[in-house]
Amino acid sequence: MLQRAVVARESRIFRDRKVFSDDFVPEDLPARQAHVEKVEESLGEALYGEPPVDLFLYGPPGTGKTACIKLVISRLEAAARASGAPVRVDYVNCGWVRTGYRVMSRLCKSFDPTIPSVGLPFDELYEMYISLLSEHKCIQIVVLDELDNLVMRSGDDLLYSLVRINGDLNGLASVTLVGVSNSLTFMEKLGPKITSALNPITVRFAPYRASELREILYQRVELGFQPGAVDPEVVPYLAAFVAQESGDARKAIQLLRVAGEYAEQSRSGVVKLEHVRRARDQFERDEYFDLISALPIQRKAVLASVAIAFKYRDRHGRPAHTGLIYEIYKKICEKNKLDPLSMRSIRRVLKYFASLGLLEIDLVHLEGGGSAFAVLEMSPPPDEVLKILQNGDLVLS
Ligand SMILES: Nc1ncnc2c1ncn2[C@@H]1O[C@H](COP(=O)(O)OP(=O)(O)O)[C@@H](O)[C@H]1O
Ligand SMILES: [Mg+2]
Repeated sequence: MLQRAVVARESRIFRDRKVFSDDFVPEDLPARQAHVEKVEESLGEALYGEPPVDLFLYGPPGTGKTACIKLVISRLEAAARASGAPVRVDYVNCGWVRTGYRVMSRLCKSFDPTIPSVGLPFDELYEMYISLLSEHKCIQIVVLDELDNLVMRSGDDLLYSLVRINGDLNGLASVTLVGVSNSLTFMEKLGPKITSALNPITVRFAPYRASELREILYQRVELGFQPGAVDPEVVPYLAAFVAQESGDARKAIQLLRVAGEYAEQSRSGVVKLEHVRRARDQFERDEYFDLISALPIQRKAVLASVAIAFKYRDRHGRPAHTGLIYEIYKKICEKNKLDPLSMRSIRRVLKYFASLGLLEIDLVHLEGGGSAFAVLEMSPPPDEVLKILQNGDLVLS
């Protein structure tokens, strides 16, 4: 009985689902060998007793920055263990560890977990870090992932401490900084005390091209799916689509996973293009969901009016133009106790929605003279939009 239950849980589609989780790092990174090599060579100096030069990895989301640095860290740590070199690496994700103070306390705690997380002044923590490093006489590599996040939120104090720390260590130990970020523009916001002391090697990560995404996806197919479970059309299609849209490997991998789940539900036994298309639609809906849910209430009211006008345009024989939208909008305002915006503002909001890709609008001439905006297309469709809006703070019926 138990045996049967275990067999039933096995999937005809998936071999190993964990390879689709975001923190899974494959043993090699297709299309990023050169990046890995460059970072490895640079940080590898530590194994020969040389403090490596500071590094900065930057590029848009999903271009393999975190995967690259994590892969190099694991290789470096293994080599240091094998040779007994006094190399230490601390990786901190500043998206999670949100203040400079907490990063510093993390760095200290990695030497001594009994150090309290709160209560000590920053300067005292800094002094403690210096004595811990000196005591261990190590070559310390500090990786600050999503560093732009930290600098935008909590300023550059931590960075300032870390760039001057080698001066305070008197040659007893050294700290190499590896910053990882989505952009380089935050560097311009750093104070001159930092920029003058910091002269890192920069490594740029560009969005992936279709051919690169194909390699990345084939690797996940091999690791994560049963043999023959993915139709040969799937990877090229997915790679081309994501390359055109963003070049984001995270998105490509997640689409592949969700397509696999649809294939599993359909019991078809093979992941096909139709499953990828469904996954893509699902992603689009999720993206729009976040976008629409986050709109301020006035804009939600306008969007609801557009959806209603668009939905009933045929039944009433009138196009969904600004006049009709405005009539509906005023009623929605009344229901929600909102002061209606002017017609001019509504036009501005419509243009804004068009710029987000929610609407396609055009200027039309009206029979009685004058002109108005008409909504030609809505994406997602009006019923979807209304469903999202109904679940929020807007009263529609
Ligand atoms: N060249 C690559 N080969 C294999 N997997 C990759 C590659 N680049 C990115 N990935 C995968 O894509 C996802 C996002 O990559 P990540 O390194 O987290 O991006 P970033 O840090 O640039 O936002 C992760 O699951 C990662 O393993
Ligand atoms: Mg990352």
